[in-house]
Amino acid sequence: MEIYYTKKELQLALEALKLNNKVITLVPTMGALHEGHLSLINFAKPKTDITVCSIFVNPTQFNDPKDLEKYPRPIEKDIQLLESVGCDILFLPSVEEMYPPNDETWHIDLGELDRIWEGEHRPGHFQGVTQIVHKLFELVKPDYACFGQKDFQQVMVIQKMIQMKNLPIQLLICPIIRNANGLALSSRNARLSDEGREIALAIFKSLNAIKSNFKSKSIPNLLEEARTILAQQPEITIEYLSICESSTLSPVTKLEEGKSYVAIITVWLEGVRLIDNIILS
Ligand code: PAF
Repeated sequence: MEIYYTKKELQLALEALKLNNKVITLVPTMGALHEGHLSLINFAKPKTDITVCSIFVNPTQFNDPKDLEKYPRPIEKDIQLLESVGCDILFLPSVEEMYPPNDETWHIDLGELDRIWEGEHRPGHFQGVTQIVHKLFELVKPDYACFGQKDFQQVMVIQKMIQMKNLPIQLLICPIIRNANGLALSSRNARLSDEGREIALAIFKSLNAIKSNFKSKSIPNLLEEARTILAQQPEITIEYLSICESSTLSPVTKLEEGKSYVAIITVWLEGVRLIDNIILS
């Protein structure tokens, strides 16, 4: 695997590959890689000639400076993991490289997507995410970009940015990777105790209950049943649980022909914020 630290080095390498008509896929990450990230690379590889992974802990998407400071950066381990799955290029820039002094200010009108759910709980987060992803898109100019379904709202935000800016990039949405308990893998889940991991099973159970009965029950009933399953675990506090139209993430109370739907949930357990979703149609 080649590792590039500057935009210039990366661009030079990519120019040569593009001259040879290589198909390029970008997998943006913030490092601290786990199986979920590696599944993005594995998902991308058969569809592409060259997989470029970026590792960059993006300061503009953090609301809390302490969270940014504490964010794990196990770079040696990340490099080994990327090599183990056959990643071709790692882009590992510094903050100065991505945000030079007098850098442009960024704002994109994402409408409600920027204000609801994760947008409401983490103001400015999606502006930061789109700012860095747009920079990476401009730099790599990939044919495909791979994101995990786990952060469903982030995927919809990126999709909207691609449409708004008319970027010739196809989004690959990689399915959620779950552990044996059905818990969606994420860096945060590692902070749960063994007991917490057992309790967290209720999250996937409640999403599955919604999916199994999606066509046969009303939306209020589906949500009530899911809440009943979660209520059996008093340690779990629901932050939000909703059935939404997929592209806008607007909550719905009844279904319309030809639209797609997703159930989204965020809960707190043992001081850890857990986020999950299930695609319904
Ligand atoms: O999902 C993430 O890890 C980040 O939000 C991303 C897409 C790499 C942008 O910093």
